[in-house]
Amino acid sequence: MARGRFITLEGGEGAGKSTHIRHLAAWLQQRGIEVVTTREPGGTEGAETIRSLIVEGSVDRWDAVTETLLLNAARHDHITRLIRPALERGAWVLCDRYVDSTLVYQGTAKGVALETLLQLHTLSTGPLWPDLTLVLDLPPEIGLARAAGRHGIETRFEAHDIRFHEALRQGFLDLAHRFADRCAVVDASTPVADVSAAIEAVVSKRLGL
Ligand code: TMP
Repeated sequence: MARGRFITLEGGEGAGKSTHIRHLAAWLQQRGIEVVTTREPGGTEGAETIRSLIVEGSVDRWDAVTETLLLNAARHDHITRLIRPALERGAWVLCDRYVDSTLVYQGTAKGVALETLLQLHTLSTGPLWPDLTLVLDLPPEIGLARAAGRHGIETRFEAHDIRFHEALRQGFLDLAHRFADRCAVVDASTPVADVSAAIEAVVSKRLGL
């Protein structure tokens, strides 16, 4: 059995990642592919417990290094118990956020050195890099309004000011440029059906479907 493919969706708050993971999963399943959808932080029982520590509470509950270590602890559990076994049995794994969120939120926005984050990534995952990362890009005002309309301010991260969210957007665009072989930027400000079509086109082209 061939190893499955690992696709991550990234972007700022309210970019539509969970909607598009659902659409992409259905589209792949129609092609006879076994799909596992998951998210970070979280995805396994232990990692979901760590997720609550990371996303709930006041903005300054953790400093950036503690937050990074918690994220990597959750990621190691997630990779070991869910993602790697799924890929090994041939399933395609679609993950809502992964290492690029750490590189941008804890790195670009909160100042942890890239070298440190890459070393931790190796320790936590092997390193395991995605086969394809879709960066859903949209202006942060639109994303934050969407996220707040859905559930109010839910996570510690949504409560940061707009400059923080603008830095995140630029951080994701810079990463997509730096890792251009792995990443594709999708304009997420267009209607949902257009975004889905754009995602399907990228997956077909990059992963040969
Ligand atoms: P979500 O709301 O998209 O599920 O993500 C939860 C929050 O966790 C989101 O605000 C971004 C943040 N986060 C990080 O800061 N670093 C990470 O590595 C990950 C995976 C998420």
